[in-house]
Amino acid sequence: MTVIALVPAAGAGTRLAAAQPKAFVELAGVPLVVRAVRGLLESGVVDAVVVAVPAEAVSTSSALLTGLGKSVAVVAGGADRTASVRCALAEAVRLHGDAEVFLVHDAARVLVPSEVVRSVVDAVRGGRAAVVPVLPLADTVKELDADGRVVATPDRATLRAVQTPQGFAADVLVRAYEGVDGGSPVTDDAGLVEALGVTVHTVAGHQLAFKVTTALDLAMAELLLEERP
Ligand code: C5P
Repeated sequence: MTVIALVPAAGAGTRLAAAQPKAFVELAGVPLVVRAVRGLLESGVVDAVVVAVPAEAVSTSSALLTGLGKSVAVVAGGADRTASVRCALAEAVRLHGDAEVFLVHDAARVLVPSEVVRSVVDAVRGGRAAVVPVLPLADTVKELDADGRVVATPDRATLRAVQTPQGFAADVLVRAYEGVDGGSPVTDDAGLVEALGVTVHTVAGHQLAFKVTTALDLAMAELLLEERP
């Protein structure tokens, strides 16, 4: 089965407060997006990768990323994550008409272990149309109203934090993105698939698949790399 990974890497990274877009912030000398793409290729189950980067960074990124292998393509992303995934998906469909599985993986999840990538791909290969890696929550979660007052406390035992890569039967992801033109409030691709009425399945995620969002996350990733480069 041909497995193509889409990597949205076009975010500004406002919460990281770095001088350049987050994907190009270096972690132990290597840009986050390079680490993320390398991790996907090293899993051994990804045939090709399409990365969406900020429009002004397409040519520099191409030089950086195509060096990782001829199976890496770069496109301009969009104004929000959904738009960026949509751009990468359109290019992936154009380049890889034979794709059977699409993975969508945040460039910011640089330390995701290969075993997580493999278990997502295995589950889709095994017939699941949509698969997400998840972790139990350490904190209790409250639902608030617009004034910041607590209106509900969902049972923590039924909640999970969702990571990437998320895996989809190719036709299901294409269908989920039909008619989506950015500005969509969904924060992950599985949300769009759920809206189609397709069941989303879960596999075990991993603490190392955390998303580098803040300066603290970056410092933590650096420490972890010192221990296991
Ligand atoms: O903002 P957030 O951390 O949710 O972003 C998750 C991923 O989506 C990041 O890898 C980021 O680069 C990407 N993104 C994108 N295009 C945007 C906004 C975010 O590709 N316009």
